Amino acid sequence: MKSLTPQSEVYFEIINEYKQAGKAIAHFNISNLDQARVICEIAEELKQPVIIGVSEGERKYIGVEMARKIVDELNQEYNVAIFLNADHTYSFEKVVEVVEAGYDSVIIDGAKLSYEENVSLVKKCVDYVRAYEAKTEKKVLIEAELGYIGQSSSLNKTLPEGVSDANLTTKEQAKDFVIRTGIDMFAPAIGNVHGMLVDAPEPKLHIDRLKEIISAVDIPLVLHGASGNTDEDLKNAIDAGIVIIHINTEIRKAFRDGEKEFMNENPNEVAPYKFGAGGQEEMRKVVRAKMELYAQ
Ligand code: G3H
Ligand code: ZN
Repeated sequence: MKSLTPQSEVYFEIINEYKQAGKAIAHFNISNLDQARVICEIAEELKQPVIIGVSEGERKYIGVEMARKIVDELNQEYNVAIFLNADHTYSFEKVVEVVEAGYDSVIIDGAKLSYEENVSLVKKCVDYVRAYEAKTEKKVLIEAELGYIGQSSSLNKTLPEGVSDANLTTKEQAKDFVIRTGIDMFAPAIGNVHGMLVDAPEPKLHIDRLKEIISAVDIPLVLHGASGNTDEDLKNAIDAGIVIIHINTEIRKAFRDGEKEFMNENPNEVAPYKFGAGGQEEMRKVVRAKMELYAQ
């Protein structure tokens, strides 16, 4: 049994090691402990570090402090490094809340704002994080996003409003944004979309655009909205330099499908841990396939 939760310095080292090795670290969101356990089990089995993400909505459901306690406990129980990320955080106040709760990283998401408003919100959060680091001697990674890719990990009939090739991140803006904000990690829009289309394949990633951005920006790049993208696209993105990949909708769907199948077969079952296990069974397949792909 390990005695300590891995520190954020280790997190940054691991990210850089993965970057050098041309591999990506998996980031999966959770809504409950059933999902968290599947992620940790597979990470331990494959001996790969993993990032557990909780969005504002997921944090509201689980509890901001409780999510930290859960991941601390998981770090005791599983022999693998598990980091906690405050995913898509939309205000300065909520960034302060998660940093003070001891999260390892946070994403300030101003992607819906104008460019200058986004820069200014992100810079304010980065300044706060740096002051917090100086005071506590604890590293907290801060990430920001540029170019709109939607906001919800849901099944959609059409692409979210505002998502279009016209809103892809450009290398010029990426460079300016990273320099002016001082963030640790950058999430671009390269054809990736939050959520999944119900009746159509996901749009293809623009790997050429990604390569241009990578040539202009010297910090780790994160791919959001990766549910539904083909293995080939994800592999090409990793080969181009993506170092963290976010998946939520695909594991939510697998979990939902597994529970549904269990309930269909056992309509009189009332024990949540039994239908939860049905959800875990389906979700396990997706988590393993993604983690194996990222480390190839
Ligand atoms: O931050 C969360 C991810 O970007 C999730 O995106 O629901 O499309 O997998 P996804
Ligand atoms: Zn995201």
